[in-house]
Amino acid sequence: MSKPRVLVTRPVPEKGLERLRAVCDVHVYQSKLPPSRDVLLREIADCEGILSLLTDPIDAEVMSAAPRLKVISNMAVGYDNVDVKAATERKIPVGHTPGVLTETSADLAFALLMAAARRLGEGERYVKSGQWVTWSPQLLLGYDIYGATLGIVGFGRIGQAVARRARGFGMQILYHGGSNQQTAQALGAQERTLDQLLAESDFISLHVPFKNATHHLIGERELHLMKRTAILINTARGPVVDPHALYEALSSGVIAYAALDVTEPEPIHMDDPLLTLDNCLIVPHIGSSTVATREKMASIAAANLIAGLQGEKLPHCVNPQVYD
Ligand code: GLV
Repeated sequence: MSKPRVLVTRPVPEKGLERLRAVCDVHVYQSKLPPSRDVLLREIADCEGILSLLTDPIDAEVMSAAPRLKVISNMAVGYDNVDVKAATERKIPVGHTPGVLTETSADLAFALLMAAARRLGEGERYVKSGQWVTWSPQLLLGYDIYGATLGIVGFGRIGQAVARRARGFGMQILYHGGSNQQTAQALGAQERTLDQLLAESDFISLHVPFKNATHHLIGERELHLMKRTAILINTARGPVVDPHALYEALSSGVIAYAALDVTEPEPIHMDDPLLTLDNCLIVPHIGSSTVATREKMASIAAANLIAGLQGEKLPHCVNPQVYD
């Protein structure tokens, strides 16, 4: 019997591909860039499964272009690039890769928090541009982490993992959304409304999924509720923060600093004014980017894909209604 054809939209770690090759006819789109719309529509046409990435918009048109499609496996915990409603209507299960990237993503959020607090990006630029001529009593003054208040917006798996790190640094922890009180109590975190959290926190870290309700969740009004010394960290999704409002707030001293792993759009345009600001640290969406974690994500994505092809329940399915 011939193996089912699957499309993998970019080279992913070999661990995942090995698993797939054992049971599938695997077509990897060999490029540094995501497939264009036309290429995606063409390549998926005779596939029974797709291993997609967060850079691939998998919408109704893509699904319709693949009449034999049985499963969509997204190699990410977030799945806002997939039209889950359209997949559910077609009884196509959608997989994602939660759990394995929690600690790695929390590490990056905390790394950004520390880098912003202590102005590491500016410090490195200062040294490498030859400006370091002496020790100076007021050079690159930053903000203390110990004893500061961290507000976590979205207290799910990753938000809670950030809270565990913050406890070790002696921070006070506030949270909004997405937890039960017992878990929060165990982590020493106190619940607040979003507005209260924004007003009380020294650091604000975003961990909500991107959907209609979280589009520009942090805009001009919310930025003005924050302290003038506040540091905003976004490792969730770019469009959770209004980039124009953020630029205004950072450039006029409404808040002190932002550290972003995600932007709107992605990649950020080279003429985006945020890139001109010294108080805005930006890295290229690398929250889960460690060797071990990307291997685990590829493995889980492969397991989801194979389960879907074999008509079994996906180990990590975002639309289990397809099995009703
Ligand atoms: C990364 O952003 C992910 O959703 O896995």
